[in-house]
Formats: sequence, C-alpha cells, structure tokens
Amino acid sequence: MTMKKFLVLNGPNINMLGIREPGVYGNGSYQDLEDLVRKTARELKVKVTLQQSNSEGQLVTWIQEAYGKYDGIVINPAAYTHYSIAILDALKAVKLPAIEVHISNVHQREEFRHHSVTAPACVGQIVGLGLTGYALALRYLAAR
Ligand code: DQA
Repeated sequence: MTMKKFLVLNGPNINMLGIREPGVYGNGSYQDLEDLVRKTARELKVKVTLQQSNSEGQLVTWIQEAYGKYDGIVINPAAYTHYSIAILDALKAVKLPAIEVHISNVHQREEFRHHSVTAPACVGQIVGLGLTGYALALRYLAAR
C-alpha cells in the first residue's frame, strides 16, 4: 500500500513563531511546529512535506506543483488568508482536499482577521487551537 502524501504550507511570518507575539501565537517555534507535524505523520503512517514562504507567488507555485503529487494540503496562509485571491484560485485549481489552519483565534482579534478569502476553497478550517491545529488537520486528511 502506498503511503498518502500531504503538503503542509505556511505563509508569511510563520517562520517567526516563538519570537513573534508570543501572547498571541504561543512560545512554540517553527521548529516545534515542524517536529509536531513530523511526529504526527509518523503516527499516522503518512508522508509530509513542509514548506514556509513569505511570498504569495511561491505559495501559489507550491500549491500548483502539488497537483497529482499529493493527497491533500494543510495550509496556514497567514496574512494572505485575508486577501489572497491568487491562493484561493490555486487551491480551487488543484482541487485537493485542503484544511485551513490558524494558530490564533482570529475571531477574537481585529475585524480584518475575521474574514478568510481562502477558506471557501477548503474542506474545513481549524482556528485558535495553537500548533495542535496542524496535527488535527493531518489526522482528518489521513482518515478521509
Ligand atoms: C494567522 C492569523 C493571521 O491573521 C495572521 O496574519 C497570521 C497568522 C494564525 O495562524 O493565527 O500571520 O494565520
């Protein structure tokens, strides 16, 4: 049986986890996020590729390249969540099951974070559960 493969994508400033606003995002670093995702993948017996970029075009390219290669995407588009039609269109184009993850509870924050332009292209969204959201998203996709 071939292992399922998932792409875990993170947008701008997620590489700054641990340094960036710990009161909002917690003390966990990007390395901790990576360790959690890899540990979860081992438990679930799935393969994962993790990528982070501060640039919208790079995220769009990775989504496009996932077509035909991955079984699903876990994506935290970070600030692009709130305005990237290019990421929305890329997710729609590849038609892979995607779960949108936000570390913080965006609904408890500024009004401009309440709306996601990318969520309509996703199967579902996990918000406000910290880094655990990524593990839960992978668990869902693996069981799907
Ligand atoms: C975020 C929430 C966004 O509003 C913000 O721009 C981020 C991170 C989160 O994971 O909580 O960069 O996506």
